[in-house]
Amino acid sequence: MSSTTSQSPENLRRSSIILAPMAGGPSTPELVAAVSNAGGLGTLAAGYLTVEKLTEQAQQTCTLLDDGKGFGINLFCPNTADAGVGTSEEELAQWTAFRNRLAPAAAHFDIDLPDTPTWSDDYFSAKVEAILADDFLPNPDALKFVSFTFGYPDNEVIARVKESGRKVILNATSIEGVQAAAKAGADRIVLQGLAAGGHRAFVKGKDSSDSIGASVEELAQAVTEACAVTNVPIIAAGGVGNREDVVKLVEAGAVAVQAGTRFLTTAEAGTKETHRRALRDLVGRDTVLTHAFSGKPARAIENTFTREFSRVAPELYPQLHYLTTPLRGAANKAVDPEYLNLWAGIAFAQCTNQYAADVVAELSGLAE
Ligand SMILES: Cc1cc2nc3c(=O)[nH]c(=O)nc-3n(C[C@H](O)[C@H](O)[C@H](O)COP(=O)(O)O)c2cc1C
Repeated sequence: MSSTTSQSPENLRRSSIILAPMAGGPSTPELVAAVSNAGGLGTLAAGYLTVEKLTEQAQQTCTLLDDGKGFGINLFCPNTADAGVGTSEEELAQWTAFRNRLAPAAAHFDIDLPDTPTWSDDYFSAKVEAILADDFLPNPDALKFVSFTFGYPDNEVIARVKESGRKVILNATSIEGVQAAAKAGADRIVLQGLAAGGHRAFVKGKDSSDSIGASVEELAQAVTEACAVTNVPIIAAGGVGNREDVVKLVEAGAVAVQAGTRFLTTAEAGTKETHRRALRDLVGRDTVLTHAFSGKPARAIENTFTREFSRVAPELYPQLHYLTTPLRGAANKAVDPEYLNLWAGIAFAQCTNQYAADVVAELSGLAE
């Protein structure tokens, strides 16, 4: 790998590469620390973790970091514009109808589906309190930022994160969302394009639309538009497969690029084996946006599940996440990629079995 090339923009640095938070397993302390130790910036995903598990993983990350290196934490933030706690009668009927549709698949894997819907705010407030506690980390200075997806925290939480010396990062999927995130006090804004793997960061009530960035070129255009409406630095996310993509986004004005999918097959990632194999074996398949796995739109490799259920699933998040959990677990165990949520961005064909440090070096174009 060459250490420099003529197309390297002056401001492209290893720190221009941010590891996207990847909840549900891929995000491990080893991966987060490996990216940061390689000169990038790792983000630990707090989504779906208990407070205890988050604390354990954050402390473990600290012990793996080289002196002077830092990392960030990402939280699923409940959106006050969403329906709220619980499930209405109508939603319960939708949930039950969908559960019935899943019954043959459940029988196929010989598993029981939950009898009642589960709702959770992912322990948001408890996680915020844990992160802000003095004894959260052996080295509090290592935590550089807290990022929020799906919603914005209230002003008090934003102020407290800032007072603790950490940057606040909010997500947006539209130019209006960028303006709203800036107004809400974001220190950095992740502009996530449609090409991104995993859940859409769309913030109901703040993002006007969810249609930018279907390709890296389109995302680059959106980054330039975003930079014209705010002085808050923009981090571009979605569909980054190689260094050329990074160069395009940085040249368009992004201070950094947040990449997820490219790290899914790295040695340090906790990606489920069936998912890892699918990223390699199913090259050639399309990715699709589907809310069938969790109730919230997310990009995944097309499979039997997305074909059968995307059109009929209700948008009930996180109720569908909990409903499909046993099915996805059984599919993973059976090494059956057809019923697993194979989160992937459009550039998943570029995934290779590398160490995370090699991906940082490759994407930044800068060897140590
Ligand atoms: C497996 C997976 C899990 C993800 N989990 C999260 C998450 O917990 N929080 C979050 O803000 N974004 C999450 N994302 C989205 C990323 O932050 C980012 O927008 C996306 O990975 C960028 O697109 P790319 O995958 O094409 O690089 C996830 C993405 C993937 C692929």
